[in-house]
Amino acid sequence: MTAHTDTLARTTSHWRPFADMSAPAPPLVIASGDGAWVTDTTGTRYLDATAALWFCQIGYGRREVADAIHAQALRMHAYHTFGDYSNEPAIALAERLSALAPGGDWKVFYTSGGSDSVDTAVKYVRRYWRVAGEVGRTIVLSRGDSYHGMHVGGTQIGGIDGMRLGYGELLADTDRVDRDDPAALEAAILRHGPDRVAAFLCEPIIGAGGVHFPTPDYLTAVREICRRHGVLFIADEVVTAFGRTGHWFASERFGIDPDLILCAKGINSGYVPLGAVLVNDRVAAPFWSGETGAMFKHGYTYSGHATATAAALANLDYLADHDLLTAAHRIEDALPTLLSALTDLPVVESVRTGPGALAAVQLDRERLAAEPTLAGRAVHAVREAGALTRAMSCGALQISPTLAITADELGQLADTLARGLRTLG
Ligand SMILES: Cc1ncc(COP(=O)(O)O)c(C=O)c1O
Repeated sequence: MTAHTDTLARTTSHWRPFADMSAPAPPLVIASGDGAWVTDTTGTRYLDATAALWFCQIGYGRREVADAIHAQALRMHAYHTFGDYSNEPAIALAERLSALAPGGDWKVFYTSGGSDSVDTAVKYVRRYWRVAGEVGRTIVLSRGDSYHGMHVGGTQIGGIDGMRLGYGELLADTDRVDRDDPAALEAAILRHGPDRVAAFLCEPIIGAGGVHFPTPDYLTAVREICRRHGVLFIADEVVTAFGRTGHWFASERFGIDPDLILCAKGINSGYVPLGAVLVNDRVAAPFWSGETGAMFKHGYTYSGHATATAAALANLDYLADHDLLTAAHRIEDALPTLLSALTDLPVVESVRTGPGALAAVQLDRERLAAEPTLAGRAVHAVREAGALTRAMSCGALQISPTLAITADELGQLADTLARGLRTLG
């Protein structure tokens, strides 16, 4: 048995997420990474179009982050932070995030990832309204096509219909509204009754649901509607924070002031799992002022994990030191021209670009309907050509490279996509 086939054999017990394990494709076993590139166990290099699952803002193999992880793991890899415990990197990162997030002081509640952040926020807003005496406010609204992770709450709340199929109702008091229409949000609030609606959970740019950019005034309009009806506004920035839109937070880019901001992924570029819920001072007050006597009885074993938060501090340094927020603007500016050539290919219906270093290459929807394997074949064809992307549920290919990708590599990525997709006719 070669080393390669041995590795493959050993993956047969690995139940991969979102994989059909009754007919599994042989795994692409990724072994190493460097900047915008990853290499598999056979030594084949691929240009990574997606920063893995939108998380690797700074690129692969960064010594600065690895060194911070190493040092922290040797000193004290983790100790819990329940009750009166904390650790230095968790404290330092909270201060840093509070200063970076737009519009004042923020309290930082750590989680282990984006789905944790979503469910933490859902519990938080329900608890908040109980403490405020408005016990009827339990409903959480969200945008059609939005993705809010795969925990019980996030699965039910998310707007991609297919993700909810086959489970029954996982959480009561959720509803989804038209993705782009502020009037639909207001109508839903009025239909349920403003005294019943706890929060609107909003992806500023819809990511996994297909990369859909907000229409110019959408976000300020829905923010205002929430304010008018006393509904809390939760920005799910798991994809959009930490430079993806050329700002630390997309909320800043779009001029909105959320009550809560959800983070994960780019917070430490995925070097170690970490998430956070940022709670604006005004919404944290009932639990911090001492006036209500209330506490938020919630937390995870790895909330405030010392090694994960140390990695985040090094990641934020890397983003700042290498000016990767400016780099994101350069990527944003380059993507429309680079990707527009793809629309000449018969298999490509359109390309979605907008504010931020992300895009979608929408495959032809008529062909997708007629050829159920088309999206998978497109991903494979691009892989054969030398780049990694993934198909989102609407049959669009995800483009969200590391912010450290060079201009040459970005051009190479567009060429590779074209070369791969051309083979599909
Ligand atoms: C907007 C958004 N929220 C939440 C999540 C869930 O994050 P995780 O997979 O880290 O639990 C994701 C994951 O892609 C996401 O895109």
